[in-house]
Amino acid sequence: MHQDRTYAVTGAASGIGAATARRLREGGGRVIACDLHDADVTADLATPEGRAALVEEVGRLCGGRLDGVVANAGGGMPDIHLALNFFGAVATLEGLRPLLWQSPAPRAVATSSIACLRTPDPTVLEACLAMDEPAAVAAGREAFRLDDPLALYGAAKLALNSWCRRTAIEPPWAGAGIPLNVVAMGFFDTPAAAPIFADPDLRAQAAAMVPLAGVFPGRPDQAAAALAWCVGAENSVMTAQVVFVDGGAERRALGAP
Ligand SMILES: NC(=O)c1ccc[n+]([C@@H]2O[C@H](COP(=O)([O-])OP(=O)(O)OC[C@H]3O[C@@H](n4cnc5c(N)ncnc54)[C@H](O)[C@@H]3O)[C@@H](O)[C@H]2O)c1
Repeated sequence: MHQDRTYAVTGAASGIGAATARRLREGGGRVIACDLHDADVTADLATPEGRAALVEEVGRLCGGRLDGVVANAGGGMPDIHLALNFFGAVATLEGLRPLLWQSPAPRAVATSSIACLRTPDPTVLEACLAMDEPAAVAAGREAFRLDDPLALYGAAKLALNSWCRRTAIEPPWAGAGIPLNVVAMGFFDTPAAAPIFADPDLRAQAAAMVPLAGVFPGRPDQAAAALAWCVGAENSVMTAQVVFVDGGAERRALGAP
C-alpha cells in the first residue's frame, strides 16, 4: 500500500509518530523519522533553527522527492505549546511542501487534538494565522497566564486546524494536487498522555468523555491507522478536513445536535 513511497514523519521516536512510522514501513514505505532523538533527522521544531534544519536534512535524505508528510510532533510544556504545536507543524508542512511536488500522489497530514475544543482566544488565533510568532506567544501569555496547562495547547491545535483547512484549498496545496488534512486525536496511550491515565480522577473524567465502548484509552496503532491512510495514495479526494479520531468525544462535547 505504501510501496515506492517516501514519508517524513515528525515526532517519530515515540507514541503515535512511532506507530505511524512503523505502519508506513510495514506497508512497504520508506520513512524519514524526525524527532529530538532516536531519529534520521534530529531537529527541535520549537525553534526556527530546528525547523530550518528539518527541511534541509529531509530534503537531502529524500533526494528531492517526498510522497507524504506527517506533521505529528506535538505536546511539550506550556512555554513551547505554540512554538511546537502550531509554528513547528506549519513550518514542517510549508517547508517540506516543495518536496511533494515531484510525487505522483503527494499527501500531507497534521496531528491535532480534541483539546482544540477548549475555550478559544481570538487574539492568539489571529496572531497564529498571521504567522506572527512573537505576537502569538505574547497574546497567549496574556490570555491564559499559563494557569490552565492545556489552554495554550488547545489554542495551538485550534490554530493548526484553522490554518490547515484554509491553506488546503489554496493553489500551492489544492492547486498542486496535494490533499492536506488534520487528524484530531482523542485519548491514546502514549508517554505524553501518561499523566492523564496515571491519575484516577483525570482518567475517570477522560473516560467519561468517550462514548464508543472499548477504545479508552486508544492504542497508538489505532491513531496511526488514520494518519497513514491520510498520507497514503488511497486518499485521493479528501482534503481540508479535520477528522476526529476520538471515539465520539468531540460529538459528545458539542452537546445537543
Ligand atoms: N496521546 C494522546 O492521547 C494525544 C491526544 C491528542 C493529541 N495528541 C497529539 O499526538 C501527537 C503525538 O503525541 P504522542 O501522544 O504520540 O506523544 P509522545 O510524547 O509519545 O510523542 C511525541 C514526540 O514528539 C517529539 N517532540 C517533542 N517536542 C519536540 C520538538 N520540540 N521538536 C521535535 N520533536 C519533538 C518527542 O520527542 C516525541 O518523540 C502530538 O501532536 C500530540 O499533541 C496525542
